[in-house]
Amino acid sequence: KQRLAILLSGRGSNMVALVHAVQKGKLRELAEVALVFSNIPEAPGLATAAALGCQTASLPSKGRKRAEYDAEVVKLLNSYRVDYVVLAGFMRILSPTLIRAYAGRILNIHPADTHQHQGLHAYEWAFDNHLPETKITVHLVDEGLDTGPILAQRPVDLRGATTLAEVERRGLAVEHELYADTLACLLAGQLHPTPNP
Ligand code: GAR
Repeated sequence: KQRLAILLSGRGSNMVALVHAVQKGKLRELAEVALVFSNIPEAPGLATAAALGCQTASLPSKGRKRAEYDAEVVKLLNSYRVDYVVLAGFMRILSPTLIRAYAGRILNIHPADTHQHQGLHAYEWAFDNHLPETKITVHLVDEGLDTGPILAQRPVDLRGATTLAEVERRGLAVEHELYADTLACLLAGQLHPTPNP
């Protein structure tokens, strides 16, 4: 089984979906959750993870230099013998220190097509632009912002969604399924991502 570290900064709904998939779903034979980590000690997702029986840890990132902070994170991940780093609403850009330590083994979920939108507020972007559809993207993390090789995308029908909350509700339902599905395919050896040139 591959050992996952799930990194979050907030609510942790994607973390919950992944933990459920590990505990009783499609990741059961493939993965175990070694650690749920946050850069925000008071992130609600950490308490949720502990209640689900996960090992948790946090290192506050506020005011820290990125490379130094990430070197500590790498040490921590190594000490948990982590195979894959799964970003689930981890709202901090990773430095090359961390990306190189886990090259090709860091995944992110982005609530838009990463070819069309990068960075924060992707649901606001889709809502404000009245998009009839948005695409959830799971990708490998490289040294750019949301530029890594795409592992999977799945559309979200936004027609008739009249509030931002409705856009998010529909999108998150797709995120939760797509992340576990994609990780399962990757760990089962069914995906062969090629690094960007
Ligand atoms: C999710 O919508 C995730 O795709 C997004 O943050 C939310 C976290 O929610 N990530 C990004 O925007 C990354 N740029 P969660 O804490 O409930 O999983």
